[in-house]
Formats: sequence, C-alpha cells, structure tokens
Amino acid sequence: MIAHLIEEAWEGDFAAAVRGVLPLLEGSYAILALCADTDEVVAARERSPLVLGLGDDEFFACSDATPPLSHIPGIFWSWKTGDLAVIRRGSVAVENGGETVVRETTYIDYDVEASRKGGFEHFMLKEIFEQPDVFQQSFRLACKHHGISMLLSRARGISVIACGTSYNAALLFRYFVEKECGVPVRVDLASEYRYLSTPGDEIVIAVSQSGETADTLSALKKAASSNCATIAITNVQGGSSITRAADDTIYTGGAGPEISVAATKSYMGQYAAFVGLLAGMSCSDMSAVERSVRQAIEESLLTDVNEAVSLCVGASTLFYVGRGIFYPVALEGALKMKEISYIHAEGYAAGEIKHGPPFALLSKDTPAVAVCLPGDGYQSMLGNLREMKARGTPLIGIGYGDDIDLQDVADVCIPVPPKGTHMRRWLR
Ligand code: F6R
Repeated sequence: MIAHLIEEAWEGDFAAAVRGVLPLLEGSYAILALCADTDEVVAARERSPLVLGLGDDEFFACSDATPPLSHIPGIFWSWKTGDLAVIRRGSVAVENGGETVVRETTYIDYDVEASRKGGFEHFMLKEIFEQPDVFQQSFRLACKHHGISMLLSRARGISVIACGTSYNAALLFRYFVEKECGVPVRVDLASEYRYLSTPGDEIVIAVSQSGETADTLSALKKAASSNCATIAITNVQGGSSITRAADDTIYTGGAGPEISVAATKSYMGQYAAFVGLLAGMSCSDMSAVERSVRQAIEESLLTDVNEAVSLCVGASTLFYVGRGIFYPVALEGALKMKEISYIHAEGYAAGEIKHGPPFALLSKDTPAVAVCLPGDGYQSMLGNLREMKARGTPLIGIGYGDDIDLQDVADVCIPVPPKGTHMRRWLR
C-alpha cells in the first residue's frame, strides 16, 4: 500500500514523494523506501523501532542495533520523532518538518561476542548460563542508582508497568517493597494501563527487556503526560524508545542482548535490578547478597532435573503454584513452559486452587510444580500440596534439599541451594 502511495505521489523527486506520503499513514511503522531508478533509501519511523548505524562508507538501517554491530564501530544516530533520513551513496541527510537537521550520534559499547552462541547448542541455553553474571552486574548497576532508591522510598505510591515476563518480574518487586518498606506498589499490565486511572503523584517504573515494546511505551507516555516521574528498567544500552521517553533509566544485563525469543537472563536481570533498588530503599547492607545469590544461581544451574522432566513428559497441562513471592515465580514458570514447549500451563496462587477450576481439573495427567520454601505460608502450602496429591497429581517440589515434609508429599524434589538464604528475609 505504501509503495503504491509513493508511486502516486512521484513527480520525479523520490524523497519528496515519500515525504508527501507519510502524513497519510496511520498507526506505527518503520519503513525503508527504495527506488529502482535512483540510489536512494528513505527511512522514516513512527512509534516503531528503527536505528541508523553509521559506518565509514556504509549505513545500516535496522529495527535493533545488534545486527550492524559486527560491521560498524557502534556509532548510531539518535532518531527523533518526525525525522526522515535520505541515505545516498556515502552520505546521509536528515530532515524534520521539511528542515535539514543535524542529529547527535550515540556510541554503543558492545561486545560482538555476546551475540554469538559461544559453544552452546542454542542461544537460550547460553543465556540461561549467563545468569550468574547478569545477576551480579545488574545488581551492581541498580545499587549505583541510590538517588532513585531514595526517591522510591519516599514515594506516596509506585506503579510498575510491563508485559509478559517483565510483568512477572515486576510482581516480585511489589512483594519485596511492600514487605520491606511499606510503600504501596501497584503493578499493571502495560496493555491494560490505558484503561486505568493514573494518579499524577506516583513514580512509574516501566520494565522492558527490549526497551521497544509498544504497549509499555504507550503506557509510559501516558504516565509521563499525567505528570508522573518515570523510570525505565531495560536491557538495551544506548537509546531505546522507552529509555528516551523516561526521565531516568536503570540498565540491566551487562552480558549483552537477549537473542533468544524467550526471556530468561533478562528476567534475572530485572530481578537483580529490583533487589538492588530495594537495597537502597531499605538502607540494607546487601554486600553479602551479591556473592551468595551468584553462587546460588551457579549451583542451581548444575541441578539435575531429569527426574522432574520425565514426570512432565506427555502431560497436556501443567500447574505451577506458589504463595507470596513464589506466586509470581509460578506465573513465570508457567509462561516459560507454554512458550518453549507449547504445552499448556497455568500459574496459580496456591491459595486460589480451591477457589477455581484446578481441583476439578487436577488428575494423574496434570503434573504440578510447586515452589515451597520454609517461611510465610509454608504450612498452608504443604496443605495445598497434600490436597493436590489426593487428586493423584504428580508433584514436583522446589525447595530446600533437607525438607523432609516437602519430600514426603512431592514425587520429585528439585533442591534449591541453601545459599539462597538471602531470600529468607522475605519469606518470614
Ligand atoms: C516471554 C517474553 C515476553 C516478553 C514481553 C515483554 O519470554 O519474551 O513475554 O517478556 O513481550 O517484552 P519486553 O520485556 O521486551 O518489553
């Protein structure tokens, strides 16, 4: 359609034809228009990602900075709303509203190795094994934002907006902050935020691995236009759309971009960023946390889960259950199971099992994964598991290796390292 519109607008000047068509387009887009008769590429975007990488004698227009980085030194032009770029051999001219403009360039410091598989069979496996580093580096980065932590600890209210996995990570923050600091936290799906009221005196945190998710971006803009202070948590260094729209940004990652479609290490990075902020908000000395969590993640990655896997093979539905901070963990477990295996899975707050259909649905064909660690709600959780067991549900318990009660009820136990004791303060 756009190509036809450009053809109709064509009066001998290609860039002028594209320029004339853009006001007719509705919605969000990123386009590169090429003309067979001239050596020009015209690039334009509206609320969709588009970056322009600048090489010595070459230019790369992409939706993401990663691909061109193996070809050029990492210099990107900062794109502003309404910009249109005319790329010719050896030159690029930028205009906005008909005027030629000069835009600043941003340097993205990026380790190209990070976008290779580094000996792993596939990217997801590589990224899962990067989690100890991601935790440590994201935690350190967040701890440096002491000013933001102070702001949050004095806030009347905090809203967190995100989608998918980022939303599940945000739910953890709510449990942490409300327990440790008493500041009320509201967590909303970014795609629903437009239908909800936005109190103007809040601090709004937008969480997005990619920094480009359209729902999160528009929710963030809504918050900003309601005079909320806005903070982004993202994994993309150097000018994502969400970073540009927010007042301040906390970067996660440290181990490069997430290439695998399923979010794994980025969830860990977001968790670490939230723990780092919490450390500042509660003025806690978390120096031991960094080391012990890193070690716990490393140990967890070596855990043999084959027995648990064989319990799930052939299942058409799985349930993931948890209480307190393990409820969001259950939600994320179910999301990941669905996304990666295409086996249907439901994440449930364990206390809700008896209020909804699960009791009727549970059987020997519906395995359940339960996160169950001593602390708040532990006895109730064991009670829930016994009820599930009574319906023949094969149970996989994730808990401490020496937990006899859990071993008693679960068919298979996946031990979490006792070094994860930092968690215990939120379990009480
Ligand atoms: C799940 C997944 C998605 C994203 C969601 C938000 O593995 O990848 O659910 O978490 O689309 O994406 P970001 O965080 O980039 O805004």
